[in-house]
Amino acid sequence: MLAEVKDLTKRFGKLTAVDGVHFSIPAVEAFGLLGPNGAGKTTTVSMMCGLVVPSGGDVVIDGHSILRDPMAVRRSIGVVPQDIALYPTLSARENLAFFARMQDVPTDTLAARVDAVLDIVQLADRQKDRVETYSGGMKRRINIAVGLLNQPKLLILDEPTVGVDPQSRNSILETLKELNRQGMTLLYTSHCMEEVEFLCTHIAIIDHGKVIADGTQRDLRLQAGNKDIISIQLERGAGDVVRDRLAALPGVDSVELRDKTVRIATDQGRSLLAGVISALDDAGYPVMTIDVKEPNLEDLFLNLTGTSLRD
Ligand SMILES: Nc1ncnc2c1ncn2[C@@H]1O[C@H](COP(=O)(O)OP(=O)(O)OP(=O)(O)O)[C@@H](O)[C@H]1O
Ligand SMILES: [Mg+2]
Repeated sequence: MLAEVKDLTKRFGKLTAVDGVHFSIPAVEAFGLLGPNGAGKTTTVSMMCGLVVPSGGDVVIDGHSILRDPMAVRRSIGVVPQDIALYPTLSARENLAFFARMQDVPTDTLAARVDAVLDIVQLADRQKDRVETYSGGMKRRINIAVGLLNQPKLLILDEPTVGVDPQSRNSILETLKELNRQGMTLLYTSHCMEEVEFLCTHIAIIDHGKVIADGTQRDLRLQAGNKDIISIQLERGAGDVVRDRLAALPGVDSVELRDKTVRIATDQGRSLLAGVISALDDAGYPVMTIDVKEPNLEDLFLNLTGTSLRD
């Protein structure tokens, strides 16, 4: 494991913002920490970076404990904070050079590192412009570039797409996916299910300071017992005979039939569509519309907490 978060706890007065959080990040994974506003994501990652002192527990990254050897941890990680931390009146290049010196990037490689990260976030052509003249999405990209300066083994990103337009958001997510493909381990926090589903192979869901689900994306979908739901509208109402016929198809778990409306639960979703349509055709009940809904992390969150992830 590249990173292990062990029983991590943070109390602010009476509030336990992070309550015994436990997860492990395997090397070269993109790990998502998904949770609603106030769940404890920022507090968790701040403790992982050594910015907030834990009330209990420990974090071990690349073999080093954040409690015993925070400097060694900092050398292994790059951090992209939730709030943009840049000097507005300096150019992007000046900002990056400043942060590179702060991170002890060796002087003889500093210019090359700045060039490299500007290329990664695709802002080399704007590098001499002051950051205050940048769009929200461009500032976000420079914020990410800062996290990449020291060539970290683990890049920790705290909601790096908040407040950016959809196009910049996609470009950020694609950039991160490519970095991950090249072998960089990511810890990505978000309250946005779609982003985590797009980017992350492993996911921990956090709510009220506690991890309520943890596993691969596939594990989590199965964990809630979610099935794909195939919804069908027939041209005319059908009865038990049709229901039994559909229920007998391999891969079908259950069938609900009310007049013209059929709902089939299955693990096999799309691959079942052709068989369902032809079975109904054979029975003399042509399909008007058919639709598959695959279970997602939103459903899982709803099942576990009774509330929606969305605001
Ligand atoms: N320094 C602090 N002092 C007191 N309470 C705090 C402090 N920092 C965070 N909290 C509280 O801890 C809880 C968790 O906050 P945190 O910022 O970790 O959540 P989050 O999951 O990052 O939320 P968001 O998605 O809004 O960024 C919240 O109730 C917050 O008000
Ligand atoms: Mg936060």
